[in-house]
Amino acid sequence: MLLRELVAHSVEKFESVGIHSAQVDAELIAAFILGKSRGEIQSAIISGAEVDEADAKTYTELSARRFAREPLQHLTGKAYFRQLELNVGKGVFIPRPETETVVQIAIDALRQSKIEKPIAVDLGTGSGAIALSMHVEVPSARVFAIEKSPAANEFTKQNFEKYPGAELVLGDLADSFNQLNGSVSVVVSNPPYIPAAMVPIDPEVHLHEPELALYGGADGLDVIRVISKVAHRLLVSGGTLVLEHADTQSEMVCELLLADGWRDVLAHKDLTGRDRAVSAIS
Ligand SMILES: C[S@@+](CC[C@H](N)C(=O)[O-])C[C@H]1O[C@@H](n2cnc3c(N)ncnc32)[C@H](O)[C@@H]1O
Repeated sequence: MLLRELVAHSVEKFESVGIHSAQVDAELIAAFILGKSRGEIQSAIISGAEVDEADAKTYTELSARRFAREPLQHLTGKAYFRQLELNVGKGVFIPRPETETVVQIAIDALRQSKIEKPIAVDLGTGSGAIALSMHVEVPSARVFAIEKSPAANEFTKQNFEKYPGAELVLGDLADSFNQLNGSVSVVVSNPPYIPAAMVPIDPEVHLHEPELALYGGADGLDVIRVISKVAHRLLVSGGTLVLEHADTQSEMVCELLLADGWRDVLAHKDLTGRDRAVSAIS
């Protein structure tokens, strides 16, 4: 069978159910099965390459799962984040591109630290995207991370083994890292922050991502309230807190932090110009 026909058929089916990345996803499924890059798949399509029966069958099976709105990353088992290739699957939150910008704020703060081996803590690490980015990109930093979900932690552990050197704990962030009290330079978190009643529209999210990773109580800020207290306990005086939040929550998060005694509270935009993160100094 022609690769071009297989891919075209999937693109049509994906578009029919509103998958915005239909072409990309159809090509990336082929790339995953055939062990090629997306560029190689595009050139194979142009040159009229054929696919054998076994690969065509696998392609049709994976394509059907994507058509049923399973996230592409669950099919391939991989997510790409800054310099990392992370293992992901059911039970762990798939890292998002907007978080790559949030990590930059934490990395900048770590690089500007006057402490020789600054300590960074990632609260609710999921795949380890934030913690491992800091670990890989700021080698002088000592990075600690905590994750509550045992299901997510299966993937977290794999990723911490792949990029060894950072320390991972399974537990609740509320009473985490007491041994580090007053010694941390940067606390960063992309916590669950969706208000409980605002179930995301995309089936990829509401059917396939863990609730613990998504929802933050009635106004979405329950976990952020806890993190504000925990970060105060952990940080050195002058240390930096970095928090991701929804684009509607900037004002509320800034007010919450100011009320908790944080200073230099700053809103940060993502690459599309939406307020998606706040930093503050202890
Ligand atoms: C939105 S996800 C972010 C995951 C990852 N940091 C990222 O940016 O891709 C939030 C993560 O926090 C974890 N989490 C939620 N509540 C927690 C708690 N009380 N203690 C520790 N981890 C928690 C969830 O299981 C999930 O992995």
